[in-house]
Amino acid sequence: MNILYVASEAAPFCKTGGLADVAGSLPPSLVRKGDSVSVIVPLYQSVADQFHGELEFVKWTFVRLAWRSVYCGLFRYEKDGVTWYFVDNEYYFRRPELYGYYDDAERFGFFSRAVTELMREFTEKPDVVHCNDWQTALVPIYIHDEAVRDDFYKSIRTVITIHNIEYQGRYGRELLEELFGLASGWYDGGTLAYEDGINLLKGAIVNSDAVTAVSPTYAQELKYAYFAHGLENVIAMCEGKLSGVLNGIDEKSFDPRADKSIAATYSPGNMAGKKKCKEQLQQTMGLQVKPDTPIVAMVTRLVPHKGLDLVCETLDSIMEKDVQFVVLGKGEAQYEAFFNYARARYPGRVAVYLGYSDALSRQIYAGADLFLMPSKSEPCGLSQMIAMRYGTIPIVRETGGLKDTVRPYQSWNGEGNGFSFANYNAGDMCHVVCEAIDLYHNNPDAFKLLQKRDMNEDFSWKRSAEEYHAIYEKLCK
Ligand code: GLC
Repeated sequence: MNILYVASEAAPFCKTGGLADVAGSLPPSLVRKGDSVSVIVPLYQSVADQFHGELEFVKWTFVRLAWRSVYCGLFRYEKDGVTWYFVDNEYYFRRPELYGYYDDAERFGFFSRAVTELMREFTEKPDVVHCNDWQTALVPIYIHDEAVRDDFYKSIRTVITIHNIEYQGRYGRELLEELFGLASGWYDGGTLAYEDGINLLKGAIVNSDAVTAVSPTYAQELKYAYFAHGLENVIAMCEGKLSGVLNGIDEKSFDPRADKSIAATYSPGNMAGKKKCKEQLQQTMGLQVKPDTPIVAMVTRLVPHKGLDLVCETLDSIMEKDVQFVVLGKGEAQYEAFFNYARARYPGRVAVYLGYSDALSRQIYAGADLFLMPSKSEPCGLSQMIAMRYGTIPIVRETGGLKDTVRPYQSWNGEGNGFSFANYNAGDMCHVVCEAIDLYHNNPDAFKLLQKRDMNEDFSWKRSAEEYHAIYEKLCK
């Protein structure tokens, strides 16, 4: 089958979060399953800066966006059996950040329109167009809109994957015709209507042939108002075409046996390298070099749904134990201020890096002993899987993909692969973190066994690629 995968970011080209990791690593796995896959993303400044010489110019054209006729260039790149397409328009995409501009609706409206028009020219017509999150949610709408007039689009099937339903692309009603060039029926018929404006993600959920969420538990959670941010009724209505497919991780890139960013490599059979990684992490981050003090780490965006208020509430109690705490991330000022304060209050025991660094994040995955993810909601979460791959035991709240990947340790029979708590409650989190620290100190053999078990877990894309392939096949029957 021919699959066109549409995303607003994809590693290694452009990345702000987990979506990029998925868009970078699922397509090559689909190719291994026998599908022919193209991925299309905007040609951001960061892509142009890093890859420009390597991209092959395909063509240029003008794309219609309501009354606008907008320049659109197309570039191509072949990698791991996947054809990569980049949509060029410097006015929209030659900017330092990927998102967060006043005209994001127009930028991604243009991108979605461009994808819809450009797919006519691709050597192989897509059987399935697979879109992701609100930025590409107009693609299924445009495809169905065109199909009324144009046979080319009639046979194309569409999939929308929800990576995080918090971001929906909600805009004023007036943008429908004026910006997106769609007839009022798309509002009046209810597809895009939400309260008194339009909601792009809602439109894609209603209109696509299949809807997927990035973990089975998240697919269930989306039926509840607490998780669905106003779209619970739409999800309930579409239940018949909704499924949850757990993300995998790029097991080649995240591999403690071969990772070039860490102080020493290691494997389940020879863990000496992990000790070195810990020592180096303590040195580089200004922590006391203590091989027998466990390091609890977080690599996270500093935003509320990551559960940071639980950490703020309980850090003092946790620090009463013999433990060190490491945080890497950036985000809201209140959390940055809190971690700066914590670093000053616990010198040599709390280390903070307010920013993002791929190399340092890998050194943390490798050098830490425990990895904390107390998320309020977590559609899938990739960090807990990466941590496990580096033998760092996760402590998570039982939500979304965290629930699907972490099985709580049971002291009476030694089963499980991490630690977890159910209620979003600081006391519960603190209790479990302390349990994990105690296991490290008091039962090193059990701790080592957990590490080995975690490193041997299968988080590859193999199974999930099969599930996506089955969804595509069902749609094309
Ligand atoms: C979003 C979600 C995260 C998920 C990622 C990839 O960033 O918040 O939980 O792992 O998408 O699907």
